[in-house]
Amino acid sequence: MFKINKNYLNLRGSYLFSTIAKKVEAFTKENPDKKVIRLGIGDVTQPLTPTILKALHNAVDEMGKAETFHGYAPDLGYSFLREAISKHDFEEKGIQIAPDEIFVSDGAKSDSGNIQEIFSTDCKVAVCDPVYPVYVDTNIMSGRTGKWVGDDSTGKWSDVIYLPCTEETNFAPELPKEIPDLIYICSPNNPTGSAMTKDQLQKWVDFANENKAVIIYDAAYEAYISEDNVPHSIYECAGARSCAIELHSFSKNAGFTGVRLGFAVVPHDLKDSDGVELHSLWARRHGTKFNGAPYIQQRAGEAVYSSEGQKEVKGLVSYYMENAAMILKGLKEAGYKVSGGVNAPYVWLKTPDNMTSWDFFDHLLKHANVVGTPGSGFGPSGEGYFRLTAFGTHENTIAAMERISKM
Ligand code: MLT
Repeated sequence: MFKINKNYLNLRGSYLFSTIAKKVEAFTKENPDKKVIRLGIGDVTQPLTPTILKALHNAVDEMGKAETFHGYAPDLGYSFLREAISKHDFEEKGIQIAPDEIFVSDGAKSDSGNIQEIFSTDCKVAVCDPVYPVYVDTNIMSGRTGKWVGDDSTGKWSDVIYLPCTEETNFAPELPKEIPDLIYICSPNNPTGSAMTKDQLQKWVDFANENKAVIIYDAAYEAYISEDNVPHSIYECAGARSCAIELHSFSKNAGFTGVRLGFAVVPHDLKDSDGVELHSLWARRHGTKFNGAPYIQQRAGEAVYSSEGQKEVKGLVSYYMENAAMILKGLKEAGYKVSGGVNAPYVWLKTPDNMTSWDFFDHLLKHANVVGTPGSGFGPSGEGYFRLTAFGTHENTIAAMERISKM
């Protein structure tokens, strides 16, 4: 008889956004007359921009002609895209990341979930708390997290080092006493919308190098940074090439949630104690498990870096950040305590009257017909908090704020 990977039985409930989707579906079935506004999952609402659409159409046309048809993509990505990324995301900012250190993928969710595979199962993992659930769930699947201790909303995994990001720390993680092997950092942060300054991040880079730890740095929201002292890449910090992997996504900056494209950066300087390059392991893993992101998507990704593409995607980011400003203003005027929304498309609010995050979710859905994300779904320090996304339309964001102000 076959045996299952029992680690999967340790996963708690369903994935956060699936739970929310089910609750909303039940509500809309019971209340077909109510117009529900979804500010829960961070999914974009604006269409792809003209330059990107043109690149997609052109690539589709190429696929229809024998002389320009493309089969399997190179598993690490086409050089036209890896070169564009290296130039625009790094070289132009004074950072040395070679095209060969860039691994094109179908998005940062896959990369952030899969990257743990190249590390030993007894590595000690540190995560910010609250945290994007993928980091923890994929380490549960690999058996690194130990036992669940405590109740549903504020319990913890015994073998995980939690880095509380609270009002007291200004929602930034502080260096732990216990030494981790793998450290997940997302900045600008999902879910709190906070962002680390370069000085704060430099401390983590120094800590990782001193302790031979690896930082898995999720930069999916870097396009939303508006403040000068917030780094767009961890490689802006001295010494990061020997301790950090960086993950990027085209979903949030260019509206690719339904297109799927992202990349990971694994510098050659990142080596274990025997001198084995993580680059070679990740390349081997890609070669075995991935046949490359589709040509059509990669041409669309290349178009993002053209001068027209850059203008257009900056327009998308501004559109969503106008929503973030409206949410911040609307919630403040309605008496909520809020943060985030300045360098990130997420606003983090304290639930009123000490409501639990899930009670506030139900309350908001019932009385304002607005969907958000309960903070406790992201970790124990998220209890008593709630996340709203700025990725809605202007119309829905305005309507949501009007409804919340009347609650
Ligand atoms: C979120 O809402 O946290 C994100 O959309 C999730 C993701 O990017 O996978």
